[in-house]
Amino acid sequence: MSDIATTAESPARSPLAAEVSRRRTFAIISHPDAGKTTLTEKLLLFGGAINLAGQVKAKGERRNTRSDWMKIERERGISVVTSVMTFEFEGLVFNLLDTPGHEDFSEDTYRTLTAVDSAVMVIDAAKGIEARTRKLFEVCRLRDIPIITFINKMDRESRDVFELLDEIEKTLALDTTPMTWPVGRGRDFLGTYDVVDGGVRLLEGGGAKTGAAQQIEIAELAKLNANLDVSAVKDELELVTEASKPFELDAFREGHLTPVYFGSALRNFGVGDLLEGLGKFAPEPRAQESDQRKVEATDPRMSAFVFKIQANMDPNHRDRIAFARLCSGKLSRGMKAKLVRTGKSMPLSSPQFFFAQDRSVADEAFAGDVVGIPNHGTLRIGDTLTEGEDFNFVGVPSFAPEIVRRVRLTDAMKAKKLKEALQQMSEEGVVQVFRPRDGAPALVGVVGALQLDVLKARLDAEYSLPVEFEVSEFQLARWISSEDRKKLDTFVAANTSSIADDVDGDPVYLARNEFYLGYTRERAEGIEFANVKDVK
Ligand code: G4P
Repeated sequence: MSDIATTAESPARSPLAAEVSRRRTFAIISHPDAGKTTLTEKLLLFGGAINLAGQVKAKGERRNTRSDWMKIERERGISVVTSVMTFEFEGLVFNLLDTPGHEDFSEDTYRTLTAVDSAVMVIDAAKGIEARTRKLFEVCRLRDIPIITFINKMDRESRDVFELLDEIEKTLALDTTPMTWPVGRGRDFLGTYDVVDGGVRLLEGGGAKTGAAQQIEIAELAKLNANLDVSAVKDELELVTEASKPFELDAFREGHLTPVYFGSALRNFGVGDLLEGLGKFAPEPRAQESDQRKVEATDPRMSAFVFKIQANMDPNHRDRIAFARLCSGKLSRGMKAKLVRTGKSMPLSSPQFFFAQDRSVADEAFAGDVVGIPNHGTLRIGDTLTEGEDFNFVGVPSFAPEIVRRVRLTDAMKAKKLKEALQQMSEEGVVQVFRPRDGAPALVGVVGALQLDVLKARLDAEYSLPVEFEVSEFQLARWISSEDRKKLDTFVAANTSSIADDVDGDPVYLARNEFYLGYTRERAEGIEFANVKDVK
């Protein structure tokens, strides 16, 4: 696979371009229980990060901790590390960004997808496309993120394979190209056929290795499993080879086609093929849009954006780690960066690097890499860091909340403190805060219920503010804008009791339900109602 890392367009590339071209920054999207944790472990094993794989397992065990946030945070000693897992394999550097699954589902999950260049979609072969997968897929589509599909748990009873592919095509409007094909099903699953190069790789023996599949004659398969109808297998493979859409790199890179791999994460089967596919097809760090210009990954000046903020576990120290994705240039320990929002210079004296094998070796990072920057609340979600230039990356979004609650303070004397605390929490991306124009108490909006638990626990632990959440008369929030300033002002004036300001002071329309929203929208000519907002 070494040829992949050196597929140079021009032989005399700069050292920077060489570093960029060997990076693959990706996330795994899946529905809970499809096998993301298991697959992550196995991918890390390929990178030799055995210890870390053990830690991922530890993370898997903390599933039922939804309401016990402090416990979650204590265990975040692991999670801080596992937010980004960097491993090297065959000359390539893979950055796997964790998208919390299960009850941890939150805006973080969505935002993490703004920091990747590709995604692996894991599907449980017995279940097909499930709700969470679909939702995360839609976020990927917003940004044209290419998707590689891994159909997992082939060692168990699965749904009809053609039907699974058909479901991907129909429900996600995504073409599929099977790169491997399962031979035998369920208990009789023997391995996978390599659709591109031919040959069957057997589950028993050699499954973990990448490279050429073992060349097994189809006829010989019968010797391995008497239950197998060899002529039916032959027919099926012929059909797959002839009828499948050929793999087209451009269609994949544009997000219209997904290569599909079959395997079993639990049995470490097919994982090597998947990793090889990621190395071969997944794009290297892409150029990023800013409000001034497109920033190329090979641009020599350092730039990065913050997509996630992790509060530290110790409530006595208000330090945070901001996760920043490098977009260009080189970040080295000790350099000074400009925080564009404030115009101030910020020393990057102790950035954290996340190499799985040996974290101490890395003290520089390139486009596609993620670094953790400790700070005391200076950095916000969506912030841009540069080497002096004035531009802001666009595309780190806020998503319209799915749950809206009113915050009720049990001690009315602390209203001012609550206001400050909510401002801080919304800058960190813990929750979104909406301040009604009519002076009513603030509303908080979240995508996942865990965010509310986290907010409550943190307000109590860090600000001594005990709060309760009340169901509000509003359930939905949409950012409103108009090309015609006057129209917007008129709309706001006519709907004051349903208007709030978000953390940046941008107007938001609050609606009781979908019906009200639809009704208002129909009558509000020239007003845009957005359920996604770019953080500037
Ligand atoms: P998640 O992170 O996507 O939620 O899934 P996770 O990897 O935790 O896997 C969910 C369950 O599915 C686990 O079983 C795991 O062992 C199993 N699993 C994952 N991949 C495969 C596979 O390829 N084949 C089979 N047969 N099972 C698979 P569990 O019983 O819930 O957990 P555990 O007790 O095994 O840890």
